[in-house]
Amino acid sequence: MHENTQGFTLWFTGLSGSGKTTIARIIGPEIERRGVLVDHLDGDVVRTHLSKGLGFSREDRDANILRIGFVSKLLTRHGAAVIVAAISPYAETRDLVREMVDDVGRFVEVYVATSLEECARRDVKGLYAKAFAGEIKEFTGVSDPYEEPVSPEIVIETEGEDPRESAMKVLEYLAQRGLVADEVRA
Ligand code: ADX
Repeated sequence: MHENTQGFTLWFTGLSGSGKTTIARIIGPEIERRGVLVDHLDGDVVRTHLSKGLGFSREDRDANILRIGFVSKLLTRHGAAVIVAAISPYAETRDLVREMVDDVGRFVEVYVATSLEECARRDVKGLYAKAFAGEIKEFTGVSDPYEEPVSPEIVIETEGEDPRESAMKVLEYLAQRGLVADEVRA
């Protein structure tokens, strides 16, 4: 049987505006510099094609996450480093994806633990203001659940920490696990 020793999925979960995408975009090139092919699956982007038309009910969010999980599994099986950034609010669904990916490689869950207060203060996309005003329904953390990961591989506290520092911590973890090389390839 084909044994894959290289592929893995790095799954960033956390509230909207917590910093998932920012950290994912910093770490991507760093992983690539260590000789592993990288693919990004970002909730906001996936929702413009693979998950186009899906909304934010539990059913639709689960469909979105399972689709992302399915693609992650395929790419992981082929030895890629798949970097996912999606709120993925439901623990059970994240665990389903973990099982799918663990079958063919490694699944590394990164909880970007920025608090609701901080996400709402930053309000990068202006969505929290609308959610608090009731203009957006079912908004994660405001009027819809976010189930915190119980035992993620990594927890990132972004408050008082630069995104670059956060990305480097994740990279260090991956190197310790032997998922990426310690050194940049010449
Ligand atoms: S997930 O719940 O299905 O994992 P996903 O990460 O794909 O969500 O998409 C979240 C993004 O959709 C947010 O960053 C935000 O830009 C946008 N969005 C629009 N409406 C909502 C909502 N009701 N809840 C959360 N995010 C929303």
